[in-house]
Amino acid sequence: MAWLLARTCFPKTIPRDRFSSCKTRAWSKGPLTAYMPEAAAFPEPMDHQGLYQVSVEQTDAFWGALGRSRIMWINPFHTVHCCDLQQGHMSWFLGGQLNVAVNCLDRHVHKAPNKVALIWEKDEPGQEDQITYRELLEMTCRLGNTLKRQGVKKGDRVAIYMPSCPMAVASMLACARIGAIHTVVFAGFSSVALAERIQDAQSETVITVNQGLRGGKVVQLKKTVDEAVKLCPMVKRVFVSKRTEENVPMSDLDIPLEEEMMKEDVTCEPVALESEDFLFLLYTSGSTGKPKGLVHSQAGYLLYTAITHKYVFDYHDGDVFGCVADIGWITGHSYVVYGPLCNGGTTVLFESTPVYPNPGRYWETVERLKINQFYGAPTAIRLLLRYGDDWVKKYDRSSLKILGSVGEPIDTEAWKWYFSVVGDGQCPVVDTWWQTETGGICISPRPSNPGAEILPAMAMRPFFGISPSLLDDKGNVLTQNDISGALCISQAWPGMARTIYNDHQRFRETYLMPYPGYFYTGDGAYRSNKGYYQLTGRLDDVINVSGHRLGTAEIEDVVNKHGAVAESAVIGYPHEIKGEGAYAFIVMKKGFNLSQKNLASELQGLVSKQIAKYAAPEYVQVARRLPKTRSGKIMRRVLKKIVENKAEELGDLTTLDDHEVVKEIIEGHKQLLQEETGQ
Ligand code: PRX
Repeated sequence: MAWLLARTCFPKTIPRDRFSSCKTRAWSKGPLTAYMPEAAAFPEPMDHQGLYQVSVEQTDAFWGALGRSRIMWINPFHTVHCCDLQQGHMSWFLGGQLNVAVNCLDRHVHKAPNKVALIWEKDEPGQEDQITYRELLEMTCRLGNTLKRQGVKKGDRVAIYMPSCPMAVASMLACARIGAIHTVVFAGFSSVALAERIQDAQSETVITVNQGLRGGKVVQLKKTVDEAVKLCPMVKRVFVSKRTEENVPMSDLDIPLEEEMMKEDVTCEPVALESEDFLFLLYTSGSTGKPKGLVHSQAGYLLYTAITHKYVFDYHDGDVFGCVADIGWITGHSYVVYGPLCNGGTTVLFESTPVYPNPGRYWETVERLKINQFYGAPTAIRLLLRYGDDWVKKYDRSSLKILGSVGEPIDTEAWKWYFSVVGDGQCPVVDTWWQTETGGICISPRPSNPGAEILPAMAMRPFFGISPSLLDDKGNVLTQNDISGALCISQAWPGMARTIYNDHQRFRETYLMPYPGYFYTGDGAYRSNKGYYQLTGRLDDVINVSGHRLGTAEIEDVVNKHGAVAESAVIGYPHEIKGEGAYAFIVMKKGFNLSQKNLASELQGLVSKQIAKYAAPEYVQVARRLPKTRSGKIMRRVLKKIVENKAEELGDLTTLDDHEVVKEIIEGHKQLLQEETGQ
C-alpha cells in the first residue's frame, strides 16, 4: 500500500537533541501534591467523595496541581482559571504556553520512542498496523512542514475529511504543532455538508484521502471533496493521501500528500501557543438548521481529556485502549487521539464496522490486539446483541478490564448483555455521559474508585470538577433527590467548549442564557434517591440516530427544498437498533401528484445528498395539514406521541386548531406502519 511504502522510507530515528527546542520547566509542587503521592496519581488516602469535594470547592488547587503535573509547559501559567458563566468568558491556565503535539508525542518519544502509540485496525479484516511514538512524531513533523511550506499558518483553519487512519491523526497533530486549527468533518458527510463546514470555518486547506474503505466497500472521498470544493472558492489547496492504490483525478489545487511529506525534514519546530488559543473546531447539530462549530482550546481540553481517560477507564501504562469511535466525532478526538496520547498510551484506531466481515469483528479485534478497555456506542451493542452470544464467546476477551458506553442512553437489556456476555461479568461497564460541548466525560461511574456501586444503564456520578444541577422549567434549582429536571452544570471546567466559531452570541444564547449562571446541556436527567444521575433524553429538537446527533430542523431545511413540499415536521421516533430514527411529516404543495412512496424515496435521496445517509428519514408520511396551535405553532409533542405509538396519551389539546387533522395523522401513521412491515 502506498502509504505503508512511504512510511518505510521515513528515517527510523531522530536525534534526541532535535527535541531540545521544547523547553520544560521545573515546577514547584502545588498544594494538592501534599496528598498526591506521585504526580500521575490522585491521593489514595482520600476517597472519591473527598477528592470530588476538593475538585469542586478548591478549583484552583485541584486543577492547578494537575495542570502542573500532567502537562508539559513551554511557559508556566500564572492563573488557574478565570471564568464567568454569565458572560461566557472561560479561561484556564492563563499565561501558560504549550504545544499539544509536544504533549502527545515528543515527551513520550523521549521516554519510550518505540512504544506503540497507534494500532490501526484497518477495514481489511485481521490486519493491523502498529505505529510507534517515534514514527507518529516523524509523520506529524513531516506533515507539519508540508503544511507550512504550502502556506498554512498559525490560526488558519484546516478541514480534515478522512477515515480513521494514522495520517488523519498525524494531520490533527500537525495542525496542533504549527498552531493551525483543525476541523475534522466526519467522512460520512455529503459534499454539501462538507462544503457548509468549510465555508463556515473559512478553511483554505483541506486534507483528504483518495478513497476510503468501509465494510469492504470503496468510498470515493476525494470525489466528494471535489464536489464540495466547487462550492468553496476560498479553498486554495487540497492534500490527498493515498489510502488505496487507486489513482484518482487530481486538479491544480490537489497536492499528493505522501510525495510532499517525503521531501520534508523529520523535525518541525513546535509553536508556543497560549492556553486559550483555539485547538480545533468541531461541528455539531443543534436545534436550528445550521450546524455549530464548537471551539475547544489548548490546555484545558488536553488536560481534561487526559484526566478523564485515566480515571474513568482506570488506564495504566501498558494498557491497550480500544475506543472504536470515528475520529470525525468528539469521542474520536478526545478518546482515540488527545486523551490517550497525552497519557502516553497505546490507542486503537478502528476503521471498520462492527459487522464486517461478520458480527464477531469487535471481539476478534479485542482478542488479537489484547484490548484492555473497550469503548463503544449502544447502537452497536444493540445490533450485536441480536446476532447472539456465539459471536462473542468465540473469542478470548480475557484482556478486557473495563467496558465503556457513550453517545446515547444504553438500555438495561443492552447494558446487561454488555456486562454479562461481552465482559463475562468481570468488567465494570461505564456509561459515560458527555457532549461535543463538554470536551470530555462529565458523568460516569468511576471504576478506579474501588468498591464504587455501578447500576445498570446509569451514568451515576459527576466526574471531578463537575457540579451538575437539575433545574425546573421556571429556573428553580431542584435540590432534592428522586427528581427529574433540565441537566445544567453550575461551574466551569477545563474541558468545556469556549465558544461557537464566529458566533459567540449563539453560544451564549444556546448554553448560558436559558438558565443564567449555568451551562445548559440540552439534556434531561433524573437524580435517584442515592444521588445517582440517569440521562432521560434531549429536551430540544435534537435526535440521536445511531449515536449521531442530528437537529430535526437540519433535516427539515433540506426536505423543504423539495419542490413538492409545502411544510414539514421531522420527529425522532424510537428505533430498536439506532436508538432513534427520523420520521418526516410532509404537507405537499397543491397540484403535486406524487405518491407517498415516491416522495419518500426522493426525500431520502435528497437528505443523503445534502447531509449524510444516516440522516435520511426512514418514514415519510404525507398529511393534509400539520397539527398546530391557534397561533400557528406546530404541536410537535402531538406528533412525537403518534410516532411513539402512544396516540392515547396526547395530553392537553385545548390549543389545537383542528382536531380532525390529528385523527387523520394517527390513521395515516397506522397505514404507513402496516405498509412498511407488511402486516
Ligand atoms: O443527548 C446526549 C447524548 O448525546 C448528546 C451529545 O452528543 P454529541 O455531542 O454528538 O457527543 C456524543 C459523544 C459524547 C448528549 O447531549 N449522550 C451522550 N452520552 C450519553 C448520552 N445520552 C445518554 N447517556 C449517555 N451516556
